[in-house]
Amino acid sequence: IAGPQSAGAAQDYPSRPVTMVVPFAAGGPTDIVARSLAEAMRKPLGQTVVVENLGGAGGTLGTGRVARAAGDGYTLLLMHIGFSTAPALYRKLQYDPIKDFEPVGLAVDVPMTMIARHDFPASSFGEFLSYVRAHKKTLSMANAGIGSASHLCGLLFLSAIDTDVQTIPYKGTAPAMNDMLGKQVDFMCDQTTNTSGQIKADKVKAYAVTAMTRIASLPQLPTMDEAGLKGFEVGIWHGLWAPKGTPKPVIDKLVNAMQAALNDPAFKQRMSDLGAQVEPSGRATPQALDAHVKSEIQKWGPLIRKAGIYAD
Ligand code: MLT
Repeated sequence: IAGPQSAGAAQDYPSRPVTMVVPFAAGGPTDIVARSLAEAMRKPLGQTVVVENLGGAGGTLGTGRVARAAGDGYTLLLMHIGFSTAPALYRKLQYDPIKDFEPVGLAVDVPMTMIARHDFPASSFGEFLSYVRAHKKTLSMANAGIGSASHLCGLLFLSAIDTDVQTIPYKGTAPAMNDMLGKQVDFMCDQTTNTSGQIKADKVKAYAVTAMTRIASLPQLPTMDEAGLKGFEVGIWHGLWAPKGTPKPVIDKLVNAMQAALNDPAFKQRMSDLGAQVEPSGRATPQALDAHVKSEIQKWGPLIRKAGIYAD
């Protein structure tokens, strides 16, 4: 039963800026979604939403920080599919994805692109596959740490082509992209929110997208499925959470503000320009996110355990 003061606090919520934690480095795909959502939530919520980046351990460091934050609605988590793969990858996870969080809702779904440094010696996806297979000993693939979306996609890609290469973990795919532009790392699977700009500016090579249909904002890129990896599909869903114990009136205010944000024309335009799909309002609810998290944990757990990949 919430005490009188917390009922009052819930009534006045939000009476000061809200922090949205992004468990990856600034400038990367998760950060781009968070900052766009934070900006679109400001008006409907009636308060500034400040994004705070805390990278490391594939996003589990920042996620753990929110799990331990006060349940008052002033600390939120913007995280993606890694929320559901971490329980299988991290045997000593510092939080329980179901018990330690209040789901607010699903926000956007983002496809990924297979990209390489600009001078990578392959001009098609087929040539890229052959080159990777033939030079696996000298190539390096970037990701944002075990449990990140780029890690998951890279893993699935390498097992699909039955090849292994050295992987280099970063605190996010923004720093990974910097290294790729500096030709310090060879290729990576990264979300269109981070890669679209570089692809359109012809700063990196792009070979395929991980959606089952071509992306309107990158029409020239074949899908992995049509380019040869039948059925290869990785979509990165993103959700918003509050810590367990956040009072329901506060969660309700966050759900309303989030749904208004997802319907904001500027937000929708920005997401569409970046190849991202905004979730329909019906999925921007605690029930939808809760159900999705659970079904994704069921889906990825056995696959990851079978592959015997552990972060700790
Ligand atoms: C990921 O690979 O999970 C994300 O791209 C990391 C990030 O947002 O930088």
